[in-house]
Amino acid sequence: MTTYEMQQEILRLKKERGILILVHAYQSHDIWEVADFIGDSFGLCKEAAKAKAQTVLMCGVRFMAETVKILSPEKRVLLSHPDAGCPMAEQMDREMILEMRRKLPDYKVVAYINTTAELKTVCDVCVTSSSAVKVVRELDSDKILFIPDCNLGAWVKAQVPEKQIELVHGGCPTHARITPKEAEAAKAAHPGALLLVHPECQPGVSALADFIGSTTEIMAYARQSEASEFIIGTENSIVQHLQLECPDKQFYALSKDLVCHNMKLTTLGDVYHCVRGDGGEEISLDPETVRLARRAIDNMLR
Ligand code: 13P
Ligand code: SF4
Repeated sequence: MTTYEMQQEILRLKKERGILILVHAYQSHDIWEVADFIGDSFGLCKEAAKAKAQTVLMCGVRFMAETVKILSPEKRVLLSHPDAGCPMAEQMDREMILEMRRKLPDYKVVAYINTTAELKTVCDVCVTSSSAVKVVRELDSDKILFIPDCNLGAWVKAQVPEKQIELVHGGCPTHARITPKEAEAAKAAHPGALLLVHPECQPGVSALADFIGSTTEIMAYARQSEASEFIIGTENSIVQHLQLECPDKQFYALSKDLVCHNMKLTTLGDVYHCVRGDGGEEISLDPETVRLARRAIDNMLR
């Protein structure tokens, strides 16, 4: 089967079986081409909340599929590859947060959406990279414990100085491994290029950036910018997507190491098997986890 033939078969089967395919922006281009919706974590959340289909296939990582299940527990929710997790989502557990809540009783706990469903049950509100600043600014508390990404947290803290924000030591291994020295070297190699980075990068990297935003915000910025060269400081799939979308502009990877191996696990073949009914993993969460985790997601969406 060629890529094209497999894509045609996926499109036929998803239509015949009423399957909605949600795709995170870090997935490969052949998967983008069979998607019903492509977006960042916030866009996927909104799309999941209004989904009509009875079966939703999430091509991304586990916390994203869990979020769909939390928002639509009556639906059949499939994760495209059973091993696609997000290491950051598992850096903390429920007991750690409960202990912190005991030590900081007057703090609200703000959880990055990149957390397990279980962890969300003991948090007050979720945020994504594109909603974090707004949610934290509007939260009805001046004291905030931000978990688990200290880089995203530091970025939020700098923009909401009026609040007391405590951070913990966690983060994305893919983005956090990029050093300011590497960012300086990339800028020196491409002096005419703008540097666009994800807020999961270290503060020293973000300080060198011309723009900081979520995956889709980075793409939107590059698309509408009058500049013609960009260094992309997020997962390298975004370099490829932007280069295809804007062939007259030039896109460079900030680092060849900006690869999320979990996002890269899903192949078009996995999507094919999922829509055929012999692949992926059906997400199942107990009703109490869904009820408690949903509050934190609903609070963000509200
Ligand atoms: P976005 O919110 O930009 O989609 O980020 C999700 C993510 O996992 C980034 O590493
Ligand atoms: Fe998780 Fe980082 Fe991969 Fe995003 S890029 S899914 S935060 S490991």
